[in-house]
Amino acid sequence: MILVTGGVGYIGAHICVELLSDGNDVLILDNLCNSSRITVERITVLAGARPSFIEGDVRNRPLLERIFTDYPIDAVVHCAGLKAVGESVREPLRYFETNVSGSVNLCQAMADAGVHTLLFSSSATVYGECVQMPIDESCVLGQPTNPYGHSKLMAENVMGSIARSDPRWSVGLLRYFNPIGAHPSGLLGEAPTTAPNNLLPYLLQVATGQQKELSIFGDDYPTPDGTGVRDYIHVMDLAGGHLKALDYLQRNSGVHTWNLGTGRGYSVLEMVNAFERVSGMNIPLKTTPRRNGDIAQCWADPGKAARELSWCATRNLDEMLRDAWRWQCQNPHGYEVDNLYPNTSEPEDVTMIRLVRSADALFRPNTTRDANKTIT
Ligand code: NAD
Ligand code: UD1
Repeated sequence: MILVTGGVGYIGAHICVELLSDGNDVLILDNLCNSSRITVERITVLAGARPSFIEGDVRNRPLLERIFTDYPIDAVVHCAGLKAVGESVREPLRYFETNVSGSVNLCQAMADAGVHTLLFSSSATVYGECVQMPIDESCVLGQPTNPYGHSKLMAENVMGSIARSDPRWSVGLLRYFNPIGAHPSGLLGEAPTTAPNNLLPYLLQVATGQQKELSIFGDDYPTPDGTGVRDYIHVMDLAGGHLKALDYLQRNSGVHTWNLGTGRGYSVLEMVNAFERVSGMNIPLKTTPRRNGDIAQCWADPGKAARELSWCATRNLDEMLRDAWRWQCQNPHGYEVDNLYPNTSEPEDVTMIRLVRSADALFRPNTTRDANKTIT
């Protein structure tokens, strides 16, 4: 059985679907601070198998001890964490407590239970402002520009240290580049509970009229069109990388680091243009000064993951944007289906069947869609 912390969050939910579909038993531990219990039902429908679910906190040591006693856990995928950069600047202690202390707590409970296989959701943010592009895993780790980034680097250091101190550990540090997109069914996706900070969730809310316009944070970077360049990766490809990494960790001890990216960067303007083409929507834009802490460009050398894990991203930008748009149209208020259908009391499983059917009907190739029409 695999314990997935944060398994009902955006990335964790996609990982759970892939793990269950691959025949694994899955136990999710999540305190639901940034997610919804409904996601467990959607994971179950998509995977055709139900994960066990415990609502709880990775900082709760007695709870972790009980979990490792009660369930036959072989490996842990540790996605639970806080991820809002701006919030981390305002509340750094909360970030260190969850992302660092929570990780230490989890590792202690694993060690006590004799479970030594751990896969960690890390981030390309640990590279800071890397001068070399593309970024490979041997690049010197930079100075993260915010407490969130520091907390991810600190957690990496904790896990790397324990793996080096005891040969029974197999630790994988997965450095995600920019995960976007959604499950192709339209049932799982990113559901920000506050105004989003990242490009794609914000762009989606502009497209549905929830935000007025998209600010382009700086058009004077030393990039081809002056806007920031990032390596966007489909969340389904990212999830697939976890299965390959877990398989590798079963056979190899020590600490292993892999970039999960596509190896291709897109600028903000390229993203907007591609989204307009895929969705048929018009995105009002305004240019603003650069965002503090932003870097000009960042894309991965995913070669190590290709060589060691036989993994590479296969979904292109259009698929990422189409799937993200489908998710947004089907769930304009995230998982809050009650808000979406205020006059119905249909159960969640009926809602899901309807959403899947309408998604199939709406997203035939080469059709231009109106966001408002898709949710009626
Ligand atoms: P998310 O917020 O959607 O998911 C995180 C999940 O963890 C949520 O369901 C939340 O309720 C849960 N959680 C938070 N604190 C917890 C705690 N103390 N105990 C138990 N559960 C807790 O975020 P995500 O985008 O799915 O990110 C997952 C992981 O990937 C995070 O660790 C994040 O730092 C990392 N990451 C994300 C991105 C990205 O762009 N989304 C990029 C790089 C790395
Ligand atoms: C941000 C975080 C990073 C985190 C990553 C994934 C900062 C400084 N960095 O990175 O720590 O690991 O998200 O969660 O917040 N952009 C706009 N307008 C917007 C939003 C973004 O122009 O409204 C631009 C940005 O300047 C950037 C690109 O779009 O060039 C991507 O931004 P974003 O999605 O926030 O990701 P990162 O900047 O890579």
